[in-house]
Amino acid sequence: MADRGVDEIIIVFGVPGTGKSLIGSKLARRLGYRFTTLSWLVLQNGYWRDYDSQRRSFVIDYDALLSGIQGIRNYRYVIETHWLEPFLEAMNPLLIVFTRTHPMILFERLRRRAWPRKKVAENVEAELLGVLIEEIKTALDKGVAVLELDTSNISVQGAVERILDFLQNRDKNRCCIDWLSRLSENELEEVMNIIGSANANRGDEHLEQ
Ligand SMILES: Nc1ncnc2c1ncn2[C@@H]1O[C@H](COP(=O)(O)OP(=O)(O)OP(=O)(O)O)[C@@H](O)[C@H]1O
Ligand SMILES: [Mg+2]
Repeated sequence: MADRGVDEIIIVFGVPGTGKSLIGSKLARRLGYRFTTLSWLVLQNGYWRDYDSQRRSFVIDYDALLSGIQGIRNYRYVIETHWLEPFLEAMNPLLIVFTRTHPMILFERLRRRAWPRKKVAENVEAELLGVLIEEIKTALDKGVAVLELDTSNISVQGAVERILDFLQNRDKNRCCIDWLSRLSENELEEVMNIIGSANANRGDEHLEQ
C-alpha cells in the first residue's frame, strides 16, 4: 500500500444541506487547519475524466483523485465530502464528523436552494433511509473515529464546540440515527408525501424560492 498521508485530516461527511460547509469551515478556522471540499479538489486539480451533462456533474477520475490525496503531506485539513471511499483508501483521518439532519428540517433547508424538486426529494430520501451509513460502517470497521452530529436543532457554533469537545475527550458516541424509527407517523407521512409528489412531477422544474 502507498505511504499514507498525515493523520491530521478531519473529514466532514453527510447528505447535502446537513451543514458540512458551514460547520467544516468554522471548525477549520478554530483549529487553524485548511478547509477544502471533494468538489474543489477534483475541479482545481482536474481529477475528472468526463462531464455528465444530464446530471450536470463531473465524472471523477478515481485513480487521479487517489494519488492526488495520497500526496497531501504535512498539512492539517478539514475536508468536506459526500463520498468517503477515496479518503479511507488514501489516508488515515483523525476523525470523521457524520452530519445528520431531521428529514423535515433538511427539506426546509434544501427547498431554499434553486434545485429541481426531484433533487431535493432525492436527498431528503437519502437522509431518511440513512444511505450513507454503509460507508460509515466501513470507516468504523477500519477503526476510524466517527462523531455523528445531528445538526437539526443546534447552532453552527454549538456543533463546532461539540466536535472540539469530542477531539479532547473522545466521549461515547452512538451511531447511527435511524430516522425511520425516530419519526412520528405524521412526520413520516409528511416526508413520504414530499418524496412521492416529487417523483410524480416532472424532474426538471425548479422549486420556488
Ligand atoms: N446547526 C447548523 N449547522 C449547519 N447548518 C445549519 C445549522 N442550522 C441551520 N443550518 C442551515 O443548513 C444549511 C447547511 O448548508 P451547508 O452548505 O453547510 O450544507 P452542506 O452539507 O455543506 O451542503 P452541500 O453538500 O450541498 O455542500 C444552511 O442553509 C444553514 O443555514
Ligand atoms: Mg457544502
